[in-house]
Amino acid sequence: MIELPEPPRLTAPSTDVRVGYLVGEQADVVARGTDDAWLGPASRDFAAFVAARTGVVERWGVPSTLLWFTSGPYYLGTLVLRHRLLEHGYGGHIGYHVVAPWRRQGHATAMLAQGLQHARDLGVDRALLTVAPENEWSRRVVLANGGVPDGRNGEGEDRFWIGTAG
Ligand SMILES: CC(C)(COP(=O)(O)OP(=O)(O)OC[C@H]1O[C@@H](n2cnc3c(N)ncnc32)[C@H](O)[C@@H]1OP(=O)(O)O)[C@@H](O)C(=O)NCCC(=O)NCCS
Repeated sequence: MIELPEPPRLTAPSTDVRVGYLVGEQADVVARGTDDAWLGPASRDFAAFVAARTGVVERWGVPSTLLWFTSGPYYLGTLVLRHRLLEHGYGGHIGYHVVAPWRRQGHATAMLAQGLQHARDLGVDRALLTVAPENEWSRRVVLANGGVPDGRNGEGEDRFWIGTAG
């Protein structure tokens, strides 16, 4: 396995990890069979791609911040932090993925732990996480971070609350 130069941490999107990001996300879309059309424009003008994802961005009608989990030139995954919950009550405060080459090494668990600190800094005392019932691995990530189950939302996803005070 690749030895990381330093413990990974959540950082603002940056052109510094251009190759790591593009190769990691491409490996991920190939592994998951998901849409790859966005990778072409992203690789053509990575600076614009990063600029569009920097700072507080309105997504799904609420302010959100996108953070990348990186170590030196390596990009491991993304975490999205919603500053408040959606009006209709679906979804949670935090979403994330770890790209395929870096899975099963504890990175999602560590990334969520750091994401909860960012949520606290934004004034979110209790973060809501929602997980599809079949997503056993994400459930483990949430439970490892102290997630307390709270039923299921109208979209059929399991809800968990995590206090951000630590
Ligand atoms: C879910 C996801 C974030 C997990 O990332 P990860 O970095 O592999 O997670 P971790 O290494 O921290 O592992 C978390 C737990 O899941 C288990 N796990 C992860 N992948 C696994 C696999 N392929 N098979 C079996 N167990 C697996 C780990 O062993 C660990 O369990 P443990 O705490 O009991 O030891 C990643 O698979 C992913 O990005 N999936 C697609 C997007 C997604 O589902 N996002 C979450 C939406 S709620």
